[in-house]
Amino acid sequence: MNEALRPTSLRTRWLGRELRTADVLASTNTAVADWALEGAPHGAVVVAARQHEGRGRQGRRWESPPGNLYVSCLLRPARALSAMAPLSLVTGLGVVETLRRAWAVDDAGLKWPNDVWIGERKVAGVLLESRAHPTPTIVVGLGLNLRTPEGGWSEDLRGRAIALDEVGLDLDVATSLEALLPILEEHVDGFLQDGLEPLLDELRSVSLLDGRRVSVLDRGRSEVFDVIGIAVDGALRVRSPQGEERLLHAGEVHLGDVAP
Ligand code: BTN
Repeated sequence: MNEALRPTSLRTRWLGRELRTADVLASTNTAVADWALEGAPHGAVVVAARQHEGRGRQGRRWESPPGNLYVSCLLRPARALSAMAPLSLVTGLGVVETLRRAWAVDDAGLKWPNDVWIGERKVAGVLLESRAHPTPTIVVGLGLNLRTPEGGWSEDLRGRAIALDEVGLDLDVATSLEALLPILEEHVDGFLQDGLEPLLDELRSVSLLDGRRVSVLDRGRSEVFDVIGIAVDGALRVRSPQGEERLLHAGEVHLGDVAP
C-alpha cells in the first residue's frame, strides 16, 4: 500500500470506487488482471508509485521511475470484446481533455491510436489488454509523465518524451487522479452506451495527425501515407502516394516519411 497515491476526494460514480495502491508492482495492468480473477468489480483501479516490469505497446518496456502516474482500470463490458478496440482512443481522448480542461495544456493532442502528445513529444501512453475467459474483461493501463526523471530521460526517450513539470505543472499522483478519473469515466460511459460516433467531433478536433505525412510500421513493414483523418469506427483514414485511400486499424505511426 501507498496511501499517498490515493485521491482524497474522487467525484466518480464507478471508476476508482475500489482502488488499491502499491509502492512498487511489476505492472499495474497485471495487478488489475489478477484482481479481476478474484472478482474485482467494473471500475476497480490499481495505482503504483513505480513498476519494475511496466509494459508498453508492441511488447516494449514502459520506463516507470517514481514521480509519474501508473494506473490501470478494470472494465467488465456488456458488449462483445471485439467492439471495444476504440477504447484506447477514448481513453487517450479522456487524457487530452483532462490536460486541456483541468490543467490548461492547450497544445495537448492525440496521436492515433493512443498516445497523448504535448507539441511533438509524448506525455502519456495507453495499453489495453483484454481477456475473454472466464468472463470478458478489459484492462486499461495508462502511464502519464508528471515529472522529468531524476537525471533526465533515458537515451531512448530523450527528445521524444515530455513530463508535465516541463509545462509548469506541479502534480502528484493523487491530485492527477482526482482530475483524470471523472473525465475518463464520462468518456468511457459515453462510449459504452452510444459507441464512438458522439465522440467523433471531439476526437477529430484533438487529433494531431490530420494532414500530416506519416510512416506506418506494421508487422515489420513500413509504408508512407498522408493522413486524412479518423474514420467513424476509429480507424485512421490515409492516402498512399499513389492516391489510394486506406483504413488502418493497427500499426505504429511515426511522423515524417522515415520510421526511426
Ligand atoms: C505505450 O506504449 O504507449 C503504452 C504505455 C502504457 C503504460 C502503462 S503504465 C500503467 C500500465 N501498466 C503497465 O504495465 N503499462 C500501463
